[in-house]
Amino acid sequence: MATTKKTPAKKSATSTGAGKATTAAVPQPGTTPGKSTKETTTTKTKGTEPASPTQTASPQEVGNGGELHQLAGGDSPPMTTAHGTPVQDDQNSLRAGDRGPTLMSDFAFREKIFHFDHERIPERVVHARGYGAHGVFENYESLSDITRASIFAEAGKQTETFVRFSTVAGNLGSFDLARDVRGFATKFYTDEGNWDLVGNNIPVFFIQDAVKFPDLVHSVKEEPDRGFPQAQSAHDTFWDFASLMPESTHMTLWQMSDRAIPRSFRMMQGFGVHTFRFVNEAGESTFVKFHWRPLLGMQSVVWNEAVKINGADPDFHRRDLFDAITAGDFPEWELGVQVFDDAFADSFDFDVLDATKIIPEEVLPVRPIGKMTLNRVVDNVFAEIEQVAFMTQNVPPGIDFSNDPLLQGRNFSYLDTQLKRLGSTNFSQIPVNAPRCPVAHFQRDGHMQMAPQSGRTAYEPNSFSGDDRGPREAGPAGHVPFPGEVTGETRRIRAESFADHYSQARQFWLSQTPVEQDHIVAAYVFELGKCEVPAIRERMVANLRNVDESLATQVADGLGMPLPAASETTVPARDDLEPSPALSILANALETFEGRKLGLLVGDGADASAVKRLQQGVAKAGGMVEVIAVAVGGATLSDGTLLEADQAIAGAPSVLYDAVAIVAGSDGTPLANEPAARDFVADAFTHYKVIGLAGSTDALVAAAGLDGKLEGDSAVLPVGSAKDATAFVSRLAGPRQWERDLRA
Ligand code: HEM
Repeated sequence: MATTKKTPAKKSATSTGAGKATTAAVPQPGTTPGKSTKETTTTKTKGTEPASPTQTASPQEVGNGGELHQLAGGDSPPMTTAHGTPVQDDQNSLRAGDRGPTLMSDFAFREKIFHFDHERIPERVVHARGYGAHGVFENYESLSDITRASIFAEAGKQTETFVRFSTVAGNLGSFDLARDVRGFATKFYTDEGNWDLVGNNIPVFFIQDAVKFPDLVHSVKEEPDRGFPQAQSAHDTFWDFASLMPESTHMTLWQMSDRAIPRSFRMMQGFGVHTFRFVNEAGESTFVKFHWRPLLGMQSVVWNEAVKINGADPDFHRRDLFDAITAGDFPEWELGVQVFDDAFADSFDFDVLDATKIIPEEVLPVRPIGKMTLNRVVDNVFAEIEQVAFMTQNVPPGIDFSNDPLLQGRNFSYLDTQLKRLGSTNFSQIPVNAPRCPVAHFQRDGHMQMAPQSGRTAYEPNSFSGDDRGPREAGPAGHVPFPGEVTGETRRIRAESFADHYSQARQFWLSQTPVEQDHIVAAYVFELGKCEVPAIRERMVANLRNVDESLATQVADGLGMPLPAASETTVPARDDLEPSPALSILANALETFEGRKLGLLVGDGADASAVKRLQQGVAKAGGMVEVIAVAVGGATLSDGTLLEADQAIAGAPSVLYDAVAIVAGSDGTPLANEPAARDFVADAFTHYKVIGLAGSTDALVAAAGLDGKLEGDSAVLPVGSAKDATAFVSRLAGPRQWERDLRA
């Protein structure tokens, strides 16, 4: 218990290190009977408000040195050590004299610091930065004709899932909107074991053989002699590697496209990338590729916006997912499959075992087979998102591997990395990793064994019975590997069928809208422009000449360099592949504002009914509105009411919103005088956003440097009247104003 007795500040003998240590002035550990940690579980804080400064949820006292002691009682159970001993005082370590040295006998302090010192575990070597949530997968129809996987056995069957989205290159503390591939890893807790579909938001990969993975990752991570750049591919070592590995060209086109700067995890596709196998009850195999499609449609931000989002809100994607789920706005994805047989595989233009290739949807349609809904945020980020362990080799009966050499290498790698990170062979017992079906084996002991491994035997065969006997092999009910035939010499050799590195890169390029092509060119120019070694730029542009002349020319022009000769190819790019419209984000954009956010900047004196109409209209369209004012306290509206703000303008740049509206009062100068408000409008314009205006906004528009630029722009709309608000809200569902000429 804290002491309230004031003792005069005096130098005790022990403060000099001399003299006899005394504990007389230091209260001894309490003698109240302890409660076990189990009994002292605290109530969930999610959604609860902290007490106001004048309230307290438990008794409190001020200690000898003026320090605050919040005491057990009220809402608070007694604090204990990890071993359950009640802790007397969490503000002061045990001292010899009030100004003396700390004593080794303070086991509570020692334990607290010991645990703190060991809080960190190694972050993932790749995909370190991520965020996740729980969900459920519901199967549309029985797929028992092609797979015996129990998850697909019948229509309507539900299976619990956990998903982790991530970036690849950055460290754990990096920003969310790096230009990067996004991981899309799903754990299905099926009733025949966990199935981990560990995919990305891009359907191809940089390399064909897993032996190159460490090189790829080393090239994109910070350069080892200087420790930067963080979470970026825009540097010499990455482009050096990519330009020397023409197989990566196709993937770099995706990476330079808007796919690599998604607006939200909720608005990106996912892909299993590799060819897998479905195997049915009769043991027959069908090849399968997995696709996730977001029901909110795909959407991305523009690069200049991404750069600014990273400063304004480095947690943009994780906050977006957390906010949507906690608001009950559950994101959904449809799972689809491309299913094909050996005959298709043999006749297809490319090798289905080559992870740098897709099978265009126009060639082989994607069949929707179920839907996943993410409906629960985690209780604890470390316990769940950090400790979740995905492994491609986690497949239930009915799902099997192809011989894709990248997949084969991954199956080897993930088990290893989990041991390194989680530190124990028993990581499968961590709740987020634990299968929801029964687990029975003779694996024993190991660090942090949690299972009460009962019974007399830990081996089989054995002749015991009952609880002492233990499990036995499942035979044909187990995971029966597909008995594919293997022939050939043991050699380190890349199949000749993997040699075409440019045809599908060209197909991807030709499948993009002009706006998307511009973005790809700009991204190559930006990234290669960050390379200091001219030969690296040259080599990359030489490779791009094999993709498309106009792409290479535009990139060379953007870099201000002469167009180099095309690099030599083993297999020249084909020009007979039809464009695949399914590869474009913009060509497939949904007409909707659902799940999107309007930034509503409100000035003092703003028309109260105009503000209300916008809020209601956007809510009806399934979107969200965040109110922004000069001060977070809010703005006084025309009817005298105070509208509380969600954000102050200084912390709410327009890059955080899909569209903006500014409702000023009759005097527009206060907003025009606010530099952040000027940037708000100017950036919204530069980022092609829909802009709504009401009240006196001329001064602000002029201060933002947009005088005369808004006239005739069909995405700059009035929002003052009811009719205007309706037209504005319906325009929000449309695309950004790509035709806006920023150079004018
Ligand atoms: C198609 C190619 C690949 C895809 C789609 C992919 C996807 C992923 C994803 C999504 C994660 C993050 C998992 C999470 O959220 O916890 C991950 C992590 C990882 N991947 Fe891959 N990866 C690919 C290739 C490879 C290869 C070839 C290797 C090694 C041979 C590899 C090794 C790793 C490792 C070591 C981790 C860290 C895992 C952890 O610590 O939890 N990946 N990968």
